[in-house]
Amino acid sequence: MERPTLAPMETGFKPAHIIIVGNEKGGCGKTTTTMHLIVALLRLGFSVGCIDLDSRQRSLTRYVENRRQTIAKEGVSMPMPRHAVVNRSPFDSQEEAKLDERDRFAQALSAVYGSCDFVVIDTPGNDTYLSRLAHSFADTIITPINDSFVDLDVLASVDGRTLEIIKPSIYSEIVWEQKMQRAKRDSGSIDWIVMRNRLSNIDAKNKRFMSKVTLELSRRIGFRVAAGFSERVIFRELFLQGLTVLDVMDATSNIKVSISHVAARQEVRDLLKSLNIALINERMHAMRQDEDAGAGASTSSAMGYHDDGSDEGVRDGLALVGAALAEDDAVSQMLDSRKTAVVA
Ligand SMILES: Nc1ncnc2c1ncn2[C@@H]1O[C@H](COP(=O)(O)OP(=O)(O)O)[C@@H](O)[C@H]1O
Ligand SMILES: [Mg+2]
Repeated sequence: MERPTLAPMETGFKPAHIIIVGNEKGGCGKTTTTMHLIVALLRLGFSVGCIDLDSRQRSLTRYVENRRQTIAKEGVSMPMPRHAVVNRSPFDSQEEAKLDERDRFAQALSAVYGSCDFVVIDTPGNDTYLSRLAHSFADTIITPINDSFVDLDVLASVDGRTLEIIKPSIYSEIVWEQKMQRAKRDSGSIDWIVMRNRLSNIDAKNKRFMSKVTLELSRRIGFRVAAGFSERVIFRELFLQGLTVLDVMDATSNIKVSISHVAARQEVRDLLKSLNIALINERMHAMRQDEDAGAGASTSSAMGYHDDGSDEGVRDGLALVGAALAEDDAVSQMLDSRKTAVVA
């Protein structure tokens, strides 16, 4: 079989910024994060393509389809992404299957790569060839992890007693390999961002420990930490309607806006800012000015958009984690004493 090329990389189009949402664990919030990112980017006026690589669960595909049906049934106008799903190859031979999947991925990507501003790709919760391939095309990788030590092992094995990092996980190694692949292919670099999901205020001690270990891991393994999403019913209850917290706050929505919606919207905006992508920052700045002009600064603030436009307004996850570190001397000292082992 002739080796297919990944044509989109060779075209003269203005390439889309590719965001991969990945973590080889299921249930950590990949699809939820993907859909919220897609809608946030659409609502900033960007054209967005999305690809579902989790062809077994197809949660993103169903989410987008539910959205299409809500638009059709209720006659509301909402921005839609251009969606594609890439199925696994039916070939038995591993080599044939890989070439076939390369081709399938190339076709899906080429359909949106030159014509959209962003392509957001949802991946399955296990290690597949397609998922690795997609990671190597990323400009940004976002890895949501549930806010518990159980889920940290997707990044590294951590000694529960000493909090010492024993070794990076397979997923961290996959990201590292794909960074190499990307560099070799087009000298590009990948920005890897880890976001903690389902943050709860109940277990403050666990939260602080998670902050510290995540910070140490970020230094050791080479990712940035983004402000995450809290545990909120509204992040999961809108799936059947194909909606996100950002749609609920639209003027055409008939869902009653609660304080939780306002806070959740701010979390999504904070995630967007953490991505540190100039195109997004410029649009958000313009949007904030529009909001201020349209509704007055006080209303804008009541809607939860706390941003003065300076860098200080950017809730960089690292700054947050750093602040948490300063709070708890005992654990900081313990980590400091392990520093040689952790940072080496
Ligand atoms: N921040 C959150 N608050 C509440 N529920 C969440 C949150 N993030 C994800 N969920 C829920 O957790 C489950 C798994 O999330 P999902 O996005 O499907 O994960 P994945 O794609 O990684 O398997 C879903 O029921 C989803 O609605
Ligand atoms: Mg999923």
